Amino acid sequence: MRAKIVAGNWKMNNDLSQTEALISDLRTQNKTSNAEVMIAPAFTNLWHASEALRSTDIEVVAQNMHFADNGAYTGEVSADMLKSVGIQTVILGHSERRAYFNESDESLAKKVDQALKHSMRIIFCFGEELNDRKSGNQEQVVESQIKNALFHLEESSWSDIVLAYEPVWAIGTGETATPEQAQEMHAFIRKTLKEKYGEAVAESTTILYGGSVKPNNAKEIFSKPDVDGGLIGGASLKAEDFFQIVNAF
Ligand code: PGA
Repeated sequence: MRAKIVAGNWKMNNDLSQTEALISDLRTQNKTSNAEVMIAPAFTNLWHASEALRSTDIEVVAQNMHFADNGAYTGEVSADMLKSVGIQTVILGHSERRAYFNESDESLAKKVDQALKHSMRIIFCFGEELNDRKSGNQEQVVESQIKNALFHLEESSWSDIVLAYEPVWAIGTGETATPEQAQEMHAFIRKTLKEKYGEAVAESTTILYGGSVKPNNAKEIFSKPDVDGGLIGGASLKAEDFFQIVNAF
């Protein structure tokens, strides 16, 4: 069975004391599902968060990293730096990184290779914009994002890849893809994986949905057969809401 995952992407929210407060709230929550739980605080708080959650089953992950080992890349953070503060998993290709920081399929392919070289797990994000969906091109767009950034990989690398389908029009907007739209796209993604890598990779790859997942809609979205969990933005900033989503499985 493929892993179920609920990951909270805190984005550029929470300074150190807010991070401490949210983590202590998270520690009081009762987990009743078997989903893996992850949170992605800002870089500055990763060390604190990974220490504070060390003996729990909440994994602390990074929101981004650079594709080089080290060097003259002012303001960037490397895989070794992340690993040295206890981080084993990195989110790559979030639509905000693509839109505001010019991340392309090509640069993301390099980041993917770098993360794998350092034995890190990757949550790889992609998704169409509103115009793409309006013109019926959503599958074409998603297919090319996946192919360009990931289809150079060997089959064996896929055990470290989690996919996160996040339609840009649903992120932070309160507008969610319907459970049917999510299922339709997830099934398409699995079919695309199967064509390239075969049944075993397609069936074992976790595919998350992201975009305005809330306590009141998580259960329905997660009930779809090809939806294996969620990447949660806004609702991950409140421990109770986040755990209602975790426990929606
Ligand atoms: P949202 O963000 O849940 O606030 O829509 C999701 C994401 O960006 O991963």
